[in-house]
Amino acid sequence: MSSRKQRPIQDQNSSSPALPTTPLLSENDRKPTGAAAKATRSIPRRATQTYLRIVGLTGVLVLIYVVFFRGQPKNEEQDPNIPIEGDYTLRIVAVGDLHSDFQNTLKVLQRSHVVDNKGDWSGEIDYLVQTGDIIDRGNDTLEIYRFMEKLRVQARHLGGNVFSHLGNHEYMNALGDWRYVYPSEIETFGGVAKRQFALSLKGFPGAAWATNYTTVSRIPLHPTSGAPNADYAPNTSPLSHAAYSFMHGGISPHIAKQYGTPYPSRLNDVGASLLRRCQTRKPPPPHPPAPYHGLPSDSPREEHDFYGAEGPVWYRGWAELPDQVVCSAVDQVIELIGVKRLIMGHTPNFKRSACIYARICLIRSNTGISRAYNGAISALSITYTLSPILSSFETEIVVSSNSNATTFLANSTESYDTTNITSTNTTTPQAQTSPSIDGGRRVGKWKEREHIQALYYPNRVQDLVIDERVIVGDFWV
Ligand SMILES: *[C@@H]1O[C@H](CO)[C@@H](O)[C@H](O)[C@H]1NC(C)=O
Ligand SMILES: *[C@@H]1O[C@H](CO)[C@@H](O)[C@H](O)[C@H]1NC(C)=O
Ligand SMILES: *[C@@H]1O[C@H](CO)[C@@H](O)[C@H](O)[C@H]1NC(C)=O
Ligand SMILES: *[C@@H]1O[C@H](CO)[C@@H](O)[C@H](O)[C@H]1NC(C)=O
Ligand SMILES: *[C@@H]1O[C@H](CO)[C@@H](O)[C@H](O)[C@H]1NC(C)=O
Ligand SMILES: *[C@@H]1O[C@H](CO)[C@@H](O)[C@H](O)[C@H]1NC(C)=O
Repeated sequence: MSSRKQRPIQDQNSSSPALPTTPLLSENDRKPTGAAAKATRSIPRRATQTYLRIVGLTGVLVLIYVVFFRGQPKNEEQDPNIPIEGDYTLRIVAVGDLHSDFQNTLKVLQRSHVVDNKGDWSGEIDYLVQTGDIIDRGNDTLEIYRFMEKLRVQARHLGGNVFSHLGNHEYMNALGDWRYVYPSEIETFGGVAKRQFALSLKGFPGAAWATNYTTVSRIPLHPTSGAPNADYAPNTSPLSHAAYSFMHGGISPHIAKQYGTPYPSRLNDVGASLLRRCQTRKPPPPHPPAPYHGLPSDSPREEHDFYGAEGPVWYRGWAELPDQVVCSAVDQVIELIGVKRLIMGHTPNFKRSACIYARICLIRSNTGISRAYNGAISALSITYTLSPILSSFETEIVVSSNSNATTFLANSTESYDTTNITSTNTTTPQAQTSPSIDGGRRVGKWKEREHIQALYYPNRVQDLVIDERVIVGDFWV
């Protein structure tokens, strides 16, 4: 293991800034009122219609191919990295904490081909996900928020999307907890009063937080698994849980039990309600030097739960609890909220076994991207493919799939502690049915593949997860 792993994140003597470990408590926080919150709905993101139309058309073409050419030998070697005609493919890049460092933000987005060398949306990927903490510890807060809004508009023009999350630092700033704000950064807003206005509902980025950011997300990997950020009730389809949830900190079992469903709107509504309350109250004088004011006095208990150490923007349990505890707890959470994996930033240390790797990915860039931490610049790249299995290579895939469908490839490196990552067989329904198209039911076998890589600046690539399985059903889009 290299020294980067031992980055002295929480060492007060080091030059790296310390992580805030828990939310601050004030007198107000200890006495939540019983008042009911008026929930503010977050805006669900629209699916990428154009993209889906193209994919749908391809699906029809493959169907025609299946109907008319099934059984014809296909001679080329099947390279699993090259999608065959008819594949449904979704490409997602996720980046973690950016902490007011525009230069490195640009670097990581160029490195992961999200933007071109001019800083414009490249169109090479479908979704960019940012898991919160754009603000604090640097000077470029406004520049990054503006950049994200530019990319959101450009992405939508090209059938893509940007999914933005609020981290604990966004909420801290909205609450007047300005412990990690650089004085030089305040000047980029024109002073304290102007910064307070900027974070309010009428300012920027305040208005963008309220309309274009959520606290948690459910991003389907396939259209039959719901629409992005739309509530979804898990069902028995093999693709029911073909979705990821992104957030800043994590969904603890406790919070999942109380606020997990409907997902993601229940948690997002509580977060939006708290944010709105902060953004519409007269801002308290920032802490420090003023004492911490806490949550608004009329915040109900659910907002206190939400902003607590177990809540989605502060939770560190998935990264810090013992393996056995996490392994037995995480399955229930992801089953409940209808996703396969949780992907988050916030907590830098990650030393885990395979069972956790299968379900939780931490974006190492959370402390790495910003110069404030002087770490590696990296992003997670996720490529999801669902390919109809044509009879000519059906046997080959079924065999490889039945022998160890889920493979976690991850070697020990400077950034990911991947000791003891091994193959597991978590998700392999035995595909028995042959592809058949009869009576309009286009049921057949499909190969589902998730490939998650860490992309480091300037050019290193590391495979983290390759998860393949065979499923049976009608998944043409
Ligand atoms: C922020 O700006 C101040 C004043 O211009 C400068 O001294 C400081 O180095 C900058 N910090 C970073 C992280 O760029
Ligand atoms: C939110 O995103 C939309 C694009 O979807 C954009 O037009 C709008 O300006 C953004 N809102 C703010 C306040 O930036
Ligand atoms: C899958 O991998 C495990 C662990 O490496 C191994 O014990 C098992 O035999 C494999 N299963 C098959 C069907 O090859
Ligand atoms: C890896 O496995 C070995 C042998 O089972 C064990 O001694 C060691 O503690 C494990 N390491 C981690 C990081 O889990
Ligand atoms: C693989 O799956 C089978 C059937 O679900 C289960 O009995 C077995 O314990 C699993 N093996 C591993 C290594 O997880
Ligand atoms: C892991 O390391 C082994 C040998 O050290 C190598 O053969 C393999 O390709 C590596 N895998 C990845 C995903 O880097």
